[in-house]
Amino acid sequence: MKYIYQSLLFFFLGGMLFTSCKNRETGKSPSENDTVVQADEDFRPDFHFTPKSGWMNDPNGMFYLDGTYHLFFQHNPDDNVWGPMHWGHATSTDMINWEEQPIALEPDENGTIFSGSAVVDHDNTSGLGDGETPPVIAIFTYHNAEREQEGEDDFQTQGIGYSLDAGETWTKYEDNPVLGNPGIRDFRDPKVIWYEEENKWIMSLAVQDRISFFSSPNLLDWEHESDFGQDLGGHGGVWECPDLFKMEVDNTDEEKWVLLVSINPGGPNGGSATQYFVGDFDGSTFTPDESIANMGEEHNYWLDFGKDNYAGVTWSNIPEEDGRHLFIGWMSNWQYANEVPTETWRSAMTLPRDLKLTQQENTYRIVSTPVRELEKYSTEGISESSVEIKDSTSLATSADLDLSQAEILFEIPELQEKKYTFSLSNEKGDVLKFGYDHGKEEFFIDRSNSGLVDFNENFANKISTAPRFSDAENLEVRAIIDNMSIELFFDGGHTVMTEIFFPQQAFNNFSAEGDNKFTLENLQINQIN
Ligand code: FRU
Repeated sequence: MKYIYQSLLFFFLGGMLFTSCKNRETGKSPSENDTVVQADEDFRPDFHFTPKSGWMNDPNGMFYLDGTYHLFFQHNPDDNVWGPMHWGHATSTDMINWEEQPIALEPDENGTIFSGSAVVDHDNTSGLGDGETPPVIAIFTYHNAEREQEGEDDFQTQGIGYSLDAGETWTKYEDNPVLGNPGIRDFRDPKVIWYEEENKWIMSLAVQDRISFFSSPNLLDWEHESDFGQDLGGHGGVWECPDLFKMEVDNTDEEKWVLLVSINPGGPNGGSATQYFVGDFDGSTFTPDESIANMGEEHNYWLDFGKDNYAGVTWSNIPEEDGRHLFIGWMSNWQYANEVPTETWRSAMTLPRDLKLTQQENTYRIVSTPVRELEKYSTEGISESSVEIKDSTSLATSADLDLSQAEILFEIPELQEKKYTFSLSNEKGDVLKFGYDHGKEEFFIDRSNSGLVDFNENFANKISTAPRFSDAENLEVRAIIDNMSIELFFDGGHTVMTEIFFPQQAFNNFSAEGDNKFTLENLQINQIN
């Protein structure tokens, strides 16, 4: 008996030592033959934004000013599940390396602070400026949980807050809300832009199954302009987090308007996802392009086909010289976000992405790539101009580089009728697979055996798939891995898939296999530090 206690004590202390003995180079727990499931900090991404502690969902109020990118986020600082929403705040000079700031907006007597946007009011149209610095105005949804509990329908209204120190501190407008609720339960997520053709502000608001547009000369008084989308696009769930902006069609002088609309549930692989519409906007009405107007309710205009990119919108106030449309999304899905196996913090943002609009056959499609700022964090690991793949061929292991923060690029020339599978794996038998089935013209991610998957039945119950939009003979693949996430950019970003995973220990092998022999070209595996 005494022996049993002694051994138990030994194992207990040994276990404690083992788990707390982190590798000094990587800051990670030992992973070779480690029997310990990874801890919270092992899952935490290195170059994606996560809150220090507590819960996070949607990105909010992103704006750029004087060299700083601001990111606000839906935040429950006191718990690791969704709850009373605040706007957390983080700043960065390159959108990769973020510094968390004090909470920007807290709940008040009008309600908790749901999603919304922020704009720099350069001309002080709101009159909230002090005549020196342009005020930054945040426009958000107040969610009044008491009114909701009382059975009322008008519990979501729009309020504003302003900052006179370039986003550091915030004051709520004293006459909030600025836009009351007409008695509609889902009435939220205002995204505001300056419509310079008519010198007015336009607000896109998600209203159940449509987007309502409002206009204002001063951000304080709003007038309803029109509604869009009740009978178009995906309607498997409620519409949320819209974003309307003008884009140049790549390599032309044509301009089109793009409307992003998040939907939950109803995504292409289940749960939450973001669809988009391309068309024209005349200051009052959004008219979808003919190719899109004719698509009916079945469509494949999704910004990302993976399960973990939701509620994303673009940055405001990006200087004209830059001209990019910079996007960031929440890297989770409402199906299981509250249950993912981290305790002290929950959820990360996607990598910031540069959106472009391309014309393809008779329609328009968004192409996304990671922002170029990521490149300065990447150092070359493996580089091979050509590799023969037969059966299952290992292409990199932890002896080459740390595969948990890496970027993998390659091309498959002359696609043939077969399935190409790429795997990240570890000695625990966890494997994350992704690839392309040329027979079905379908990309896929399979996380069914990727480690911890049982925390929710919808996490890994099916393989996620995505269509291919390019008919090029060569397939270009770029995969970016950051501890718990993979972001796949196929065909230069024409099809994108983002998913999260929780391996029992870090993945330390990357391999490829095909139905027959094939060649990979321009294989490059970089470390991202
Ligand atoms: C989207 C969303 C928004 C809402 C916020 C609440 O994920 O449901 O519609 O404003 O989250 O946290």
